[in-house]
Amino acid sequence: MPDDPILQLRQVSKRYPGTLAVDRVDLTVRRGEVHAVMGENGAGKSTLMKILAGSFADYTGIIEVDGRAARISSPAQAKTHGIEMIYQELSLAGPLSVAENVLAGRLPRRGFFLDRRTMVAEGRRYLEQVGLDTHPMQPVEMLSQHEAQLVEIAKALSNDPAVLVMDEPTSALSRAEVKRLFAIIARLKQRGVTIIYISHHLSEVYQIADRITVMRDGRKIATVIPADVDPPTLVEMMIGRPATQAQIERKREPGRKRFRVRNFTRAGFFHDIRFFVRAGEILGIGGLAGAGRTELARGLSGVDPVDSGDMIFDGKYVDPASMRACMRQGIAYLTEDRKRQGLALRLSALTNTANAVHAKRGHLLARRQRKELFSCQAAQLQLHPAQPQRQAAQFSGGNQQKVLLGKWLATAPEVLILDEPTRGVDVGAKKVIHEKVVQLADQGKCVLLISSDLPELAALADRVMIMRKGRFTREMSKVELSENAILLAANADREANPHD
Ligand SMILES: Nc1ncnc2c1ncn2[C@@H]1O[C@H](COP(=O)(O)OP(=O)(O)OP(=O)(O)O)[C@@H](O)[C@H]1O
Ligand SMILES: [Mg+2]
Repeated sequence: MPDDPILQLRQVSKRYPGTLAVDRVDLTVRRGEVHAVMGENGAGKSTLMKILAGSFADYTGIIEVDGRAARISSPAQAKTHGIEMIYQELSLAGPLSVAENVLAGRLPRRGFFLDRRTMVAEGRRYLEQVGLDTHPMQPVEMLSQHEAQLVEIAKALSNDPAVLVMDEPTSALSRAEVKRLFAIIARLKQRGVTIIYISHHLSEVYQIADRITVMRDGRKIATVIPADVDPPTLVEMMIGRPATQAQIERKREPGRKRFRVRNFTRAGFFHDIRFFVRAGEILGIGGLAGAGRTELARGLSGVDPVDSGDMIFDGKYVDPASMRACMRQGIAYLTEDRKRQGLALRLSALTNTANAVHAKRGHLLARRQRKELFSCQAAQLQLHPAQPQRQAAQFSGGNQQKVLLGKWLATAPEVLILDEPTRGVDVGAKKVIHEKVVQLADQGKCVLLISSDLPELAALADRVMIMRKGRFTREMSKVELSENAILLAANADREANPHD
């Protein structure tokens, strides 16, 4: 029975203090379908799904599971209905091992003691399903972000869900991992598992969704079949007006060489990296996850130590051993990992914004200056809601990314190292960020753009360096740049050297 609903929501609402995040939503999810949920940042997607996962006791409206009314007011109750969720903000316990996280709540025991052998074996079995070969006893905090995301997926699968909700599961995954995830989704679907899939990526949604629900401002706009709507129409449904596709204009050509890096090496991570960035140039760094791009960025901004190498900015040496010195000479690093490293989630957006400026200047700003700094960034990046006192954790995912970017822009950097700057932001916000990056370049600043989003690299970068296994293997000029070319270059040397 293809139309047989597994979930039926009637007039479901959820209010946070001051925000009606989900507003009288009616939604039918059919058994065994892949149901995509789309909408702008802050549309209410995560909140709606958290209701299903039992995060809130205070939602209103009716939820029916398998045709029977169910009150889902705790994660345990969601589990009894077979509902599992992979959270946008990963929910893993950092100090615990991968296996303990995956098997949480039903760790194998022998008498009083944990049965370590079984734990390792069980853990490994689930990790294999997602194609991750880290050791099950490894603490989660030692993992990279994309590995943590895979562990999160393994954890949800280990509970054998009937309904699996995935909230932007691919935001930290490489193309190869996305493919693997889609294979897992296909397998789960065959087994009759129902999947609800939140994503900002139109291409992903068209690939895997049977139906798409669009949300806007907490309301459900419609549920449609992908074949019935083309991407521009879908975007229009999300933003409530026709989408415009204006090219971003560059106002000037890159000028003199402003930022130079020579012999940059950190054993095991990157080797003999050399490049320059001109005034007003956007230098892209392409490559596959694990190529060493983030490690390089962390070395260039003084976050991690390097073994050797010179950095010269405007003719002056910058000491990579000191993060403070890097900041003072104008280097800003936007981390790819906003939840774990970028933001102090419990502090207000205002404090987050001011913190980087404080660190750079070495003294505190007056209250009024802090406020001005915040409102200026909030307005530029269209932060929503633009409330300075709101905790970082209480913004939607895409708006947290804007807080993070604003915090670095507030330091008035001269060299911007951007690591996946538009991760998790919606189409509109992405455009705003792209325009901002181009505007900074037009002011003569140097931009290093690390991105796994190939259209983004192709659209913004003047040149792209391809990084592979810790080395720059190729440089591509603006003329050579196209999505396909970047992808091929990132993989090409892999085929050429099958043994390394
Ligand atoms: N913990 C919270 N406290 C208060 N308001 C919140 C909280 N979490 C989200 N909100 C607000 O609820 C609304 C819906 O947010 P939600 O996180 O559901 O959006 P989303 O569609 O998942 O967006 P994104 O694509 O950016 O992840 C937003 O206006 C947001 O600011
Ligand atoms: Mg969300």
